[in-house]
Amino acid sequence: MGAPWLGPRILVAVLIAVLLKDSDLLDLPARVLSRFGQDDLEATQELAGRSSLEGTSQPDAQLHLSKNGFVLIVSPARPGSEASLEPGWLQTWLLTAEASAWLRGAFFQHGAIVFRGFNVPDAPSFEQVALAITPSLEDVYLGTSPRSQINQTKFVHTAADFDKHSTVPPHLEMSFMDDPPKLQMFYAHRLDMTKGGETPLVDFQGVWESISGNGGLVKRMKGRNIMYIRRYEDCGHRKILDPYFTKCWQDMFKTDNKTEVRRQCSKERFDCSWDSINILTIKNVQPPLRQHQATGKTIWFNHMNVLIPDSYAYDYERTAVMWGKVEGWWPLLIGTYYRMLLL
Ligand SMILES: *[C@@H]1O[C@H](CO)[C@@H](O)[C@H](O)[C@H]1NC(C)=O
Ligand SMILES: *[C@@H]1O[C@H](CO)[C@@H](O)[C@H](O)[C@H]1NC(C)=O
Repeated sequence: MGAPWLGPRILVAVLIAVLLKDSDLLDLPARVLSRFGQDDLEATQELAGRSSLEGTSQPDAQLHLSKNGFVLIVSPARPGSEASLEPGWLQTWLLTAEASAWLRGAFFQHGAIVFRGFNVPDAPSFEQVALAITPSLEDVYLGTSPRSQINQTKFVHTAADFDKHSTVPPHLEMSFMDDPPKLQMFYAHRLDMTKGGETPLVDFQGVWESISGNGGLVKRMKGRNIMYIRRYEDCGHRKILDPYFTKCWQDMFKTDNKTEVRRQCSKERFDCSWDSINILTIKNVQPPLRQHQATGKTIWFNHMNVLIPDSYAYDYERTAVMWGKVEGWWPLLIGTYYRMLLL
């Protein structure tokens, strides 16, 4: 590949299959999650122990590596005419043993893999590609973002049902859970979104490398855990004008049966309780760092920057600057509102 081997970087892989032609079937980015099976973990542990991709056959595709080696971009061999541009080609290729071995090796050596330029026209086709990568996809989501299932699929959900000016801060998927997803796959239907749709990829092992030099922070964190406190309204009484409420608990647990909610809470070791107006509070405790299961490397593994009010204003102000002009006024106004809430 002609690029230095930089080691496995992150627990979460991202796959973006981008369409060749524009259409309006699906504007929002969509995604699926997987926790992997035990076989996958063993296979990846073996691959993670290798120092290069030698011995695995490379795909008949063009490979480009991002400057820092974190993102590997895979695109069709010869744009315009080859079989790799046929619909269904990508999933068929991913199902072959060689592709599967190559993909896992590349995943642990880089961190994020982008498939760009293949013919994956819609969410059901993306689901087939995702199932070719791993059959163990998740259909439960106990995270904080409002998210809807995409029609005609079982596993594909919108990335987040937020307005274009809203930002989802960089995070490791559900890092507040005991067993968060190991793999996350995104699908972008269009590349040319001028507003919204921006999906930055973050190397959280790199984040830890860069902040671990801060002795004060390391000392403060040593031996301590983070308590996450998340609150969700009752879907039937959505009265509260508090912008920190993102969704209601019946939507999150996909039931209004509290016995069932309690059952799911205890399975996840969440402490769940309802107050007098039926707001559900979920508390749980997790360490701020975790060791990568396959490589043993330390990862900054928490939701500290996401579930904290201080970060909201910055995100809107950033959008305001990015959009500029009159369009930037609305996110700027919201950012100012969040700043006032903090006073
Ligand atoms: C799914 O279909 C329903 C009814 O046609 C529609 O209201 C909804 O917006 C669709 N959802 C998505 C994510 O496309
Ligand atoms: C509520 O959920 C519990 C646990 O899953 C189940 O045993 C019970 O039958 C459910 N109740 C109703 C009314 O559906």
